[in-house]
Amino acid sequence: MKNIVIVSVLVSLVLIGIIYSYVGDIIGDDMVNILSMLAAVLILGISVGVGLKYVNQMKNDRATGTLADENWDGIGEYKNDLPVGWAVSFIGTIVFFIWYLLAGYPTWAYSQIGEYNEEVKAYNAKFEAKHANISDEELNAMGESIFLVNCAPCHGVTADGMNGKAANLTQRLDAVAVKHAIINGSNNGLVGEGLMMPDRNGLFNMNTGMPISDEEIDVVAEYVANGFTGAKGAEIFAGVCSACHGMDGTGMPYVAPNIRNFTPDLVQAVLQNGKKGAIGQMPSFKTEDLRLTDTQQRAVGTYISNLADQ
Ligand code: HEC
Ligand code: HEC
Repeated sequence: MKNIVIVSVLVSLVLIGIIYSYVGDIIGDDMVNILSMLAAVLILGISVGVGLKYVNQMKNDRATGTLADENWDGIGEYKNDLPVGWAVSFIGTIVFFIWYLLAGYPTWAYSQIGEYNEEVKAYNAKFEAKHANISDEELNAMGESIFLVNCAPCHGVTADGMNGKAANLTQRLDAVAVKHAIINGSNNGLVGEGLMMPDRNGLFNMNTGMPISDEEIDVVAEYVANGFTGAKGAEIFAGVCSACHGMDGTGMPYVAPNIRNFTPDLVQAVLQNGKKGAIGQMPSFKTEDLRLTDTQQRAVGTYISNLADQ
């Protein structure tokens, strides 16, 4: 036994020496470093001691005890009582688990994320109060900054959609987007939950009494995309679309959206609900998810509405 102690002390000293040669010069007189070093010495000493004790035991110990009745191909097993320490820690973990779940850190009570969200909500409320009487120019300026941070990565700093990766916001709709909406319908909550546009099978031309045809779809899509110009397109629009979108395409509240211009309301609806269309998925910037506040949404909506006018 004496030998083990001597050897373990020697091995520990060698290991400590090696560590010291690497980090000795940075230990200095920093209290935390010194304490860490002391702890390292302690852990090393104990580990080496325990390790050597077991090596010794494997070398010298002879098995004692009663063999169990069963054996497998002559290999037997000693009768062992359940170690008390093991049993206590097993039951202890179960007790700890129940305590932790119900009292220590109840999953449904406090959380850091929850606390963070509460604080953000409080600051958002301050922000909203501060900007309660914001002017249109201020909204536009605020909208530009929000756009550059949140929207430009997809829509591009000039808002033209970066080669079709996101919608071109300098124009209300292009022909591809209009065609997509006519053929597939649209369900993006633009004018309220549950108000959607039927797909092509639900669109009839009141002048002919027939479902909208492929050719009519192409013509009317160009008509809308080109700023409502063209006699043929106007006729089809009047026959198929105007009942919901209005004769001039500026829409009606709770019936169909404005497909002629961007308005702050429309952009706000897109920001709340996200949008799925011809290009793909626009993520939502919901107020409830603490993405953009009501004022911030109105600001960026104002900015985009003004963009298209330029
Ligand atoms: C029955 C009413 C109705 C008719 C008829 C109708 N629409 Fe719509 N349209 C809607 C509604 C409602 C929405 C908004 C759906 C949503 O929230 O996504 C919409 C959305 C759209 C959109 C998508 C706007 C966007 O920003 O994504 C386009 C484009 C469109 N309509 C074009 C047309 C055209 C062109 C016609 C005629 C060929 C037409 N609609 C006929 C009700 C209608
Ligand atoms: C992850 C990329 C991404 C980000 C970020 C993003 N958008 Fe979009 N957005 C898209 C895509 C893609 C579309 C086209 C969806 C479709 O297929 O119609 C779109 C469509 C839109 C539309 C609808 C255009 C139309 O004609 O109907 C508006 C409005 C819009 N985005 C505004 C914004 C604003 C404002 C922001 C910043 C707060 C923003 N987007 C951030 C990807 C993005």
